[in-house]
Amino acid sequence: MMKSVIDRFKITPVPTHKVKNINFALEIKRLKKEKNAVILAHYYQEEAIQSIADYLGDSLYLAKQAEKVDADIIVFAGVHFMAETAKIVNPSKKVLLPDLNAGCSLADSCPPVDFAAFKAKYPEAVVITYINCSAEIKALSDIVCTSSNAVEVINSIHEDKQLIFAPDKNLGRYLIKETGRDMILWDGACIVHEAFSFEKIVQLAKEHPKAKFIAHPESESQVLDIAHYIGSTSGLLQFVQEDPSETFIVATEAGILHEMQKKCPSKHFIPAPVEDDTCACSECAFMKLNTMEKLYRCLKNETPEIRLDDVLMEKARLPIERMLAIK
Ligand code: 13P
Ligand code: SF4
Repeated sequence: MMKSVIDRFKITPVPTHKVKNINFALEIKRLKKEKNAVILAHYYQEEAIQSIADYLGDSLYLAKQAEKVDADIIVFAGVHFMAETAKIVNPSKKVLLPDLNAGCSLADSCPPVDFAAFKAKYPEAVVITYINCSAEIKALSDIVCTSSNAVEVINSIHEDKQLIFAPDKNLGRYLIKETGRDMILWDGACIVHEAFSFEKIVQLAKEHPKAKFIAHPESESQVLDIAHYIGSTSGLLQFVQEDPSETFIVATEAGILHEMQKKCPSKHFIPAPVEDDTCACSECAFMKLNTMEKLYRCLKNETPEIRLDDVLMEKARLPIERMLAIK
């Protein structure tokens, strides 16, 4: 089992005692100006964080913004692999993550030692890795992709080449169907996207016969097979704005519904049901570790900071740059 990011980097977690009578939104705005900082936030963050972000988007958009940012500090309101990617593409900036425990089950499902052994079995293969992985895995890769550009990334590799795709087997299976390319898949998955219940989605769709069912490609095959549209978070957001339907059942982390509702106030968005009725499983517990209070504290104290070994960054940068050169 791979160590948590805290163990790996020996970093002290942020203290969590409450700060009373502070307007976090106002203080964050003030500190951003004072320290020449920007906030990059993913659509899965809580609403208040999405609202205060300078840049809000999917993994690809945020990686591109991180590369271009001219501020001194990047506060990454997302998960660890996203902040790590920002540091790799813009190493001279101070990159902060409000809660260092904000990991990712998918990234954790691919320990570097095991992946190196897996890769060694296919010495001729080109290694494509989904951006949801650690810097160590990126360093073992030829090219990185996100769910926005994975098809283009795969198509950029000569068809005679053998391909490894890691770490998400669900996205990998979907991409095999989309591109017609055979790929050797690593057996990893996202706990949030695997929690959706096929049977309950079918039942819900019967109750809303005019609704469109849309899903993120990290969802399981049987769920994807019944989707009217499959795409990254930004793809899903674009689809709901362009499609004339009034109701959408959405199979991805529930945070995206905030921006969907904002962009389409008259439309109706229903989070796809999960297997276990007793949990909030369509929320990513890692993403939701970041709060306005932690965001305020991290800007104020300029910690926790993402620190990476220079050699590791160098190795991980090349496959990310290859991706950014494509789209
Ligand atoms: P997107 O790149 O589609 O925003 O996906 C990020 C993610 O973590 C999905 O679980
Ligand atoms: Fe990782 Fe899944 Fe959370 Fe995305 S939703 S950050 S893939 S655990």
